[in-house]
Amino acid sequence: MAVRLTFHGHAAWSIDADGVKILMDPFLSGNPTADVGPDDVEAEYILITHAHGDHIGDAVAIAKRTGATVVSNFEIASWFGAQGVNAHPLHLGGGKEFPFGRVELTIAHHGSSFPDGGYGGNPAGIILKTGGKTIYNAGDTALFYDMKLIGEMHKPDVALLPIGDNFTMGPEAALKAVELIRPKRVVPMHYDTFDLIAQDAEEFARRCRDEVGAECVVLKPGGSIEI
Ligand code: NI
Ligand code: MN
Repeated sequence: MAVRLTFHGHAAWSIDADGVKILMDPFLSGNPTADVGPDDVEAEYILITHAHGDHIGDAVAIAKRTGATVVSNFEIASWFGAQGVNAHPLHLGGGKEFPFGRVELTIAHHGSSFPDGGYGGNPAGIILKTGGKTIYNAGDTALFYDMKLIGEMHKPDVALLPIGDNFTMGPEAALKAVELIRPKRVVPMHYDTFDLIAQDAEEFARRCRDEVGAECVVLKPGGSIEI
């Protein structure tokens, strides 16, 4: 089985899990760094970490066009369901086996209001197990020590970590996160989308190698890795 992750800028990802098309946090039309638009992506499932506009993004339009099922926390899944979108609710610590693999929600320390101020439940990270591989998408979060537990329990093949600072972990905290999680590979995200979260990702990658002994892959929007 082949699992390929393609970065679309910010925190937006496409995953091809042996032919099953999965999107995570598809913020495309408002994302100045996106390499594709909402009409260009395929999806059977859309995984959403939290309700902020830069994460739900174009998920409603994409789900309506493709018939994809949104998987997120109960509050966010209910919001999608109310708009006629197929949605499956999970919540923190819980997971479910889907035809392509298992999705589990982890804690994340952040906010989760919808763009209109509505309540979006607690923000989450995502553990996605598919094709014998494990992806940990930390979502938008502060550093927290339980990342060590996530690393021990799930042994991620890849960890997608925010490094933008201001709204999430910056590079210093993300380096400590890598030390706690010990993933096989790290890919930074949630940086350079706007001036406020500009970061030197190559410098972060160098520090991952030199200071933590971890492999870090920097992807440009449109870039992908196979895990
Ligand atoms: Ni956020
Ligand atoms: Mn965000």
